[in-house]
Amino acid sequence: MEKLITRKGEIRRIPLYVDGLDEKMEGGVPEGHIVLVCGAAGTMKSSVSFNSVYNEAAMHGKIGLYISLEQSYPSLLNHIINMGYDLSKVNILLINNLSNISAQLEQIRNSKRGTLIFADLGCIRREIKDIKVTATVNEGWINVIKNLVKKIKSELELDLFVLDSLSALYVLSKFENPRVELFYIFQFLKDLDVTTYLISEMPLDGSRYSEFGVEDFLCDGIIHIRLTQFRRQVVREISIVKMRATNAKTDVFSLEFKDGKFQALYGGQNPLL
Ligand SMILES: Nc1ncnc2c1ncn2[C@@H]1O[C@H](COP(=O)(O)OP(=O)(O)OP(=O)(O)O)[C@@H](O)[C@H]1O
Ligand SMILES: [Mg+2]
Repeated sequence: MEKLITRKGEIRRIPLYVDGLDEKMEGGVPEGHIVLVCGAAGTMKSSVSFNSVYNEAAMHGKIGLYISLEQSYPSLLNHIINMGYDLSKVNILLINNLSNISAQLEQIRNSKRGTLIFADLGCIRREIKDIKVTATVNEGWINVIKNLVKKIKSELELDLFVLDSLSALYVLSKFENPRVELFYIFQFLKDLDVTTYLISEMPLDGSRYSEFGVEDFLCDGIIHIRLTQFRRQVVREISIVKMRATNAKTDVFSLEFKDGKFQALYGGQNPLL
């Protein structure tokens, strides 16, 4: 259940580990928040979300789950390693068979190090086929994801969760009544009390931050990354659109990844328009 707090100082925060941005949002995302990380293709949505979870695991021994419905595990791993993240600092658990997940979780139960658990589309798809879900396709996908998250939370503890992406979930499962179904998905995540990054591809017209628009209101925070062209140069820009329980600066920063670190700059080397 969501924890009740009585003092401002009790709000614990998860940094994004983006230098120059965490300071502008009182240190990070309040624990337990559900945050949309949105932007167009290639804006580094996955990397920014992974960066926060990785650093929490490597520096504070946290446990994070990354479910990729878009990229396969090898493709994601290649990207992460190419960016220079040192995976030897954390336990890595690849879930490729949901039927023996308890045994897999057992291996790291008493570990002092942080853990990153990866589950990709392939294993979830196999599970759906195996259990021959008789209900709608929609319930199949969402239930498998919910069960996986619940199981890890109850057997091991779970601090952070990335769903990459909400947009892929919409492609895989047809929502008949998105407003109602999304309300229950967000309620499930709220009750779970795990800090969550939901990656969301924005509609091209930029009119909202998510597919149906209702997610913008249901979530606790929105981080927006965009590409902006200045003459021939295209720069990435990041802004905190909303962050409940946080005095966040809504300015637009340029976003750079250099020497294994994300940085948000006011102008910096790349001119802002
Ligand atoms: N050091 C680096 N190593 C690898 N990729 C980098 C690096 N710096 C920047 N990138 C860029 O990161 C981008 C991919 O990042 P990421 O996968 O996080 O983006 P995304 O928004 O999740 O993309 P998609 O829409 O494909 O899911 C690539 O376009 C790549 O050029
Ligand atoms: Mg991605």
